[in-house]
Order: sequence, then structure tokens, then C-alpha cells
Amino acid sequence: MSEIKTVGILTSGGDAPGMNAAIRAVTRAAIYKQLTVKGIYRGYKGLLTGEIQEFKTNNVSNIIQHGGTILKTARCLEFREASGRQKAHETIQKEGIDALVVIGGDGSLTGARIFAQEYNFPIVGLPGTIDNDLFGTDTTIGYDTALNTIMEAVDKIRDTASSHERLFFIEVMGRNAGFLALNGAIASGAEAAIIPEIWQEVDQLEELIHHGFRKSKNSSIVLVAESDVTGGAMGMAERVKKDYPEYDVRVTILGHLQRGGSPTASDRILASRMGAAAIEALLDDQRNVMMGIQNNDIVYVPFSKAIKEEKPINRDLLNTLRTLSI
Ligand code: F6P
Repeated sequence: MSEIKTVGILTSGGDAPGMNAAIRAVTRAAIYKQLTVKGIYRGYKGLLTGEIQEFKTNNVSNIIQHGGTILKTARCLEFREASGRQKAHETIQKEGIDALVVIGGDGSLTGARIFAQEYNFPIVGLPGTIDNDLFGTDTTIGYDTALNTIMEAVDKIRDTASSHERLFFIEVMGRNAGFLALNGAIASGAEAAIIPEIWQEVDQLEELIHHGFRKSKNSSIVLVAESDVTGGAMGMAERVKKDYPEYDVRVTILGHLQRGGSPTASDRILASRMGAAAIEALLDDQRNVMMGIQNNDIVYVPFSKAIKEEKPINRDLLNTLRTLSI
């Protein structure tokens, strides 16, 4: 028999569409198993300030369709210090919380891993990030919605790009990962994606220009992953203006609109499955694992792997993009 009676749940780091569906799933799966659920507000910060509320099933009614997170979120610097984590542990004891479900990205799961080790405390994670940059899972909660948002935005920009016969660099999020840029480019029929994963191998801008770019087209769209190494969309545009002044170049930075909006069916289903699996995992004495999805099956990925290992991009996708953008 598991000794877990009360589960705390929090969302941390950048919000992602589908986080609410995950909160709903964790809450309802826990209550279904006769556990008490406590919602912790503003990520780890809520463990320091004590902003915690018991959740019943109706606290999570009517939220599956909404973007953002009803629990709010934050990046909590204090939790990075041992003194902050001690304070968090005191709150956890005071509230009678026996285990945590943390929904967030890389930084949030890193915090979870440290805390779990320091206090021998049961934590499971859910990959909640639009970046899709966590190892051991084919996809993350929010990624599909963000991809769709990018696709819709690029479709609109293409109308004006082709009317004016321009070259557009469109910057998308992803922190240091190019998943949104690469798959966003394929989904929107863009001519190329410039991504940090291959920046050391090839000058992607030169490749774009010299592989017949604009040969048969009157406009071009290039998705650029935000990243210090690529210089982002502004950096690319500057280079083109300097070296190829014949092109009429424009830049669009999609920014935080990529993080909002109603989650797609895929994200809602993923979040629901992972949320329910997180409770099963805790009751099955799993600790320090992130819920992942591989070939449509839920898997447990140790935090150490999910965070530390680099998730590789699929090279076939790069080839597909190159092939289709002739
Ligand atoms: O990790 C999600 C993400 O949206 C990244 O793609 C982006 O680099 C970052 O968060 C932006 O963070 P903030 O909202 O703090 O500016």
C-alpha cells in the first residue's frame, strides 16, 4: 500500500497550452484514487509563500479548453538556493503533502530533481513546454498547439510575402532547440528552417541562398529558431541586407503568441493521459521520473535522463524540408 495520501500539484516555468488539461487530469485521477489534492500557486514560489488550496473536482471544471495555467506559473530564483528549498520543505510538511506532481520544462524538472534528492521526497514530472526539448518523450504538452499557432501565422505572412515578392525571416521560440522551427517550416511549406542543432555543421544561410533559393519562386519564408548561436531572425536579415542587397527582406518575431491559445486535441489528450499516469506512477512507488510518450505509449523517464541528455532532432525531417522546398 502506498503511503501517499495527499498530492501537491504545481505548474512552473513558461506556461504551455494543455497545462490546464494536465492539472485537471492529475486532480481528477488523484481524487478517483481517494487522494487529497492541493493546488500550489505560482510554481515553486507557492511553496515559499504558502499559497496553497485544496482542489476538489469542481476546481478543475471547464478548464480543459483554456490555454495558460489556472495555478499561475513563475520562474522562482529562491528555490534555486538551499535555504529556499528548506523553506519549501517546511511548507510541505505543514500542509501534509506527501508527494508532488510538477508540470514544467527543463528548469522546473531540474528543481524537482534537486529537491527530491535533498529531501528524499516523491516527485513525478509532466513535460509541459512548447519547446519539445525534453529527452525521452516524443512530444511535450503544448508543443502541438504552438506548432499549429506558428503554422497559422506563417500562412498569413505568406499572403503578404508573395504579394510583395519578399524574403521573410520568421523567428519562432524554442530556447536552444529547433523543433518548432523545423516542424513549423514543414507544416507551413516554408523554404527553410535555421536551427541551432546544426549551426556548427553548415552555414544555413549560405546553403539557403546557394541551393537555388528563389529560383522558381517570387517569395520565400524562412523559419529561424530563436537562439544566440544563430543570431535569430534579425541576425539573418542583417546578413542578407549586407551580402545580398537585391533581396527585399522583412522580419517577424512571433514571440509569446506562440504560448497562448486553446490547446489542440492532441495536447489535451496527451496532458490527460500523462496526468492520470502521474498518479498511477506515484501510487506505484515511482519517484524522480517524468512521464513521457514514446510510440503512443506512456513511459517513465528518469529526471536525470530527461534533463541531462540532449534530445536529437530527426535528420529525416531536415531532408524532407530540403526536398520539398525546391
Ligand atoms: O521555454 C518556453 C519558452 O517560451 C521558450 O521558448 C522561450 O525562450 C522562453 O520560454 C521565454 O521565456 P519568458 O516567457 O520568460 O520570456
